[in-house]
Amino acid sequence: MMTLEQEHKMVLELKRQKGSVVWKNLSKYASVFLVLALSGGILLWRNIHTLEQKLNCQTVSALYQFRNSIQSSFVPGGPPLLYHNHSYCVHLGQEPSPEEALQERFLLESLAWPEPQPRAVPTPLRQTSDPAHSQFTIIRAGNIRKWYVGDQLETLVHMHDFQGRPKRYGGDFLLARLHSPELGAGVAGQVFDRRNGLYSAVFPLLWEGPAQVEVTLVHSSEAVAVLRRLREERPDRVFFKSLFRSGFLSETTMCNLCLPTNQQPLCNYTDPHTGEPWYCYKPKLLGCDTRINHAKGGYQKHLLANKEALLFQSGVNIKVRIRASGSDRVVVLPEEKDNPEDESTSVRAEPARVAPSGYYFHGSWRSLGGVAGRQFNDSSVITQCLKGKMVFMYGDSTARQWFEYLNAFVPELKEFNLHSPKNVGPFMAVDSTQNILLRFRCHGPPIRFSTVAASELRYVANELDGLAGGPDTVVVISVWAHFSTFPLEVYVRRLRHIRRAIVRLLDRAPGTLVVVRSANLQALDAEVSLYNSDWFSVQLDGVLRAMFRGLDVLLVDAWEMTLAHQLPHALHPPPVIVKNMIDTVLSYICPVQS
Ligand SMILES: *[C@@H]1O[C@H](CO)[C@@H](O)[C@H](O)[C@H]1NC(C)=O
Ligand SMILES: *[C@@H]1O[C@H](CO)[C@@H](O)[C@H](O)[C@H]1NC(C)=O
Ligand SMILES: *[C@@H]1O[C@H](CO)[C@@H](O)[C@H](O)[C@H]1NC(C)=O
Repeated sequence: MMTLEQEHKMVLELKRQKGSVVWKNLSKYASVFLVLALSGGILLWRNIHTLEQKLNCQTVSALYQFRNSIQSSFVPGGPPLLYHNHSYCVHLGQEPSPEEALQERFLLESLAWPEPQPRAVPTPLRQTSDPAHSQFTIIRAGNIRKWYVGDQLETLVHMHDFQGRPKRYGGDFLLARLHSPELGAGVAGQVFDRRNGLYSAVFPLLWEGPAQVEVTLVHSSEAVAVLRRLREERPDRVFFKSLFRSGFLSETTMCNLCLPTNQQPLCNYTDPHTGEPWYCYKPKLLGCDTRINHAKGGYQKHLLANKEALLFQSGVNIKVRIRASGSDRVVVLPEEKDNPEDESTSVRAEPARVAPSGYYFHGSWRSLGGVAGRQFNDSSVITQCLKGKMVFMYGDSTARQWFEYLNAFVPELKEFNLHSPKNVGPFMAVDSTQNILLRFRCHGPPIRFSTVAASELRYVANELDGLAGGPDTVVVISVWAHFSTFPLEVYVRRLRHIRRAIVRLLDRAPGTLVVVRSANLQALDAEVSLYNSDWFSVQLDGVLRAMFRGLDVLLVDAWEMTLAHQLPHALHPPPVIVKNMIDTVLSYICPVQS
């Protein structure tokens, strides 16, 4: 996956290429047509008639239509608007069991985000949350509070609007972390929405020494309301396309999870195993079985009214820090052996204890509640650890990053040239001496990669069903980034299919290690926010955790690992964070010998 800008460039490039391909074909055959046309109607009719039989076309009644459809490939006009509502193809796929259906309902209820009031009327910017007017305070009981390792630090965030007036309702999307640049330390904070314009941000104190609080407004509650509307009403805001080709005919049509059925005939590519829906508009001349590839088509523009656009301004109300009133720092003292339950302790008993999955110290991630972390700085230690293993990676480009990291860092791993397109895959690397196999394959539609061959489109659940598994098999799954434009039910359904396939895999081959990588934070500007906001991701992340809870899988908490780190958020986290993720997995496979 690329940045939006790169993607735009690419879409333009694709359009250009697409045009040129058709031109090439056309010029190649133009003379043929000319001859055909000159040699009269009979020959022409026969030619088209055989075409019709050969290509299983619906109707090829005249040259006029033929020419028309070739021209339609040139017209760069945008796709037709799709009018969707909340039930947007969410009922498709394998039937959920009663328990799964119940779980889904609870899950969606638990992820319901507070709505701003008043709901219907668009709020003028001046009455929306303004990070510059907002502030947070470290809560100190008395004035003499001391902080010890093992305690929790609580801060209170007061949100204000652009006029400086306190907000009276919740729903703002805030991020919080506690960190120490001196110690290379950082941990994610947990934010509790009190639904009255106040928020608590709570941090566990895990290291001794300095610690400083950072609170960021990602989006105002009013902006979140806009994102919610987009997610439910405009799942077509990223659109897809496929090229169909047979002989010298080629056509490109629009595709998506669901398409309105009343406009044009559809090709139905619903997956027979999972029931995952996928449709393209049927090409005018070609049959549905002539689909050559799948690609991201582009991004719908003009999604916002002018007033709404004001809610998405870089440097104003997208990912802007909130300042502290008073100090944002504390010094944490060594853990007290017999910490007396003094009054200040009882104050911090509320809210509940937060339990992050780990934290950084001296720049390396320490998992809490898992195995002790090891650092794999030396590629030979990695090959020792992976000796005899087959590692299968499935997902979006955040899974591909792991393949790329290992392939680049371990010289013994040689990439096997599968002649796959760059950045798309599938990819494979081997160390034949140590018998290590590494593979990457992207997940199925709605994958937003440049161009994936139709023959290479696979659903992760089906791939898992094709694995023998066992103690020498490691499976890595990272599926999230390309679901941000769809209602949550679409992601629930996809993960349910993957979850069932994992259960089957672990049943038939106990000892298989399944690693699930969660969503991560990314760089946001006004445009990226509408398609890929962290607000979409935080909800996907909530779904992912719930869907794999209770399953014997290793969760790599990319969310916290990017939140707690001092480097800027990026869709593709920098190598130092990827290394920490991979070290976490390798530490699990090859724990420290005691
Ligand atoms: C939403 O779409 C479904 C299926 O297309 C339709 O049955 C339903 O009436 C629609 N609901 C609304 C509120 O438009
Ligand atoms: C597409 O195919 C699936 C499975 O064969 C079927 O359940 C579904 O109804 C079809 N969709 C349409 C719009 O016909
Ligand atoms: C690995 O590298 C990091 C950073 O260079 C260093 O701090 C750490 O001590 C190294 N660990 C091992 C086990 O070599």
